[in-house]
Amino acid sequence: MAHPAFADIGACVFDAYGTLFDVNSAAARRRDRLGAKADRLAELWRVKQLQYTWLRSLMGVHADFWKVTGDALDFAMAVLDIEDQALRNDLMELYLSLDAYPEVKTLLARLKRAGFKTAILSNGSPDMLAAATASAGLADLIDEVLSIEAAGIFKPHPSVYQLAVDRLGVPAARISFQSANAWDAVGAAQFGFRVAWCNRFGQPRERLGAQPHAEIKSLDELPALLGI
Ligand code: LAC
Repeated sequence: MAHPAFADIGACVFDAYGTLFDVNSAAARRRDRLGAKADRLAELWRVKQLQYTWLRSLMGVHADFWKVTGDALDFAMAVLDIEDQALRNDLMELYLSLDAYPEVKTLLARLKRAGFKTAILSNGSPDMLAAATASAGLADLIDEVLSIEAAGIFKPHPSVYQLAVDRLGVPAARISFQSANAWDAVGAAQFGFRVAWCNRFGQPRERLGAQPHAEIKSLDELPALLGI
């Protein structure tokens, strides 16, 4: 039996960074060079990256996610007094081959076998998403890779979520959207998707109005929501 909010789903759409791909895996792979600063760098990098997406969207000064990710890394390295251009370039390169979370591949294959359309809807630029998807071996398991670049503004602007409706030809209420980013889950619920918040890190819920329809700890729990 499907969860009532997920009883008539036509397409499963996933956020990319934090949801399918472990954004901390880049710094983790260079722990030998970053030492005790690795975890702090990963956290600052991610927080600043997201802040820059929201700030650029508010200012009306869009730049793609590659530029934003590089700017955020420069900021994070400056905070931690790390001056090393080669390391900087290396960390950016690693962003193109982030680890996928362990359950992702099996889950996507199961959704496809059950007849669901699968898609990514992400802030990532088309090149970044193509590289990460190919590197993790997910390319054949995802029907559509949708980048916000087509909308020219970042999540959670509603025009971004509308891209999935338009490109997939599935109405919002028949799209199941999965994100580990609580604010993205809220934005998607506000837009009208059926939302499963993948709360990987046991975070408190956002106080931002709309709420996701379900909270799961890993994507392994999605098939049960969908009743498959
Ligand atoms: C993305 C960011 C939100 O993939 O992680 O869109």
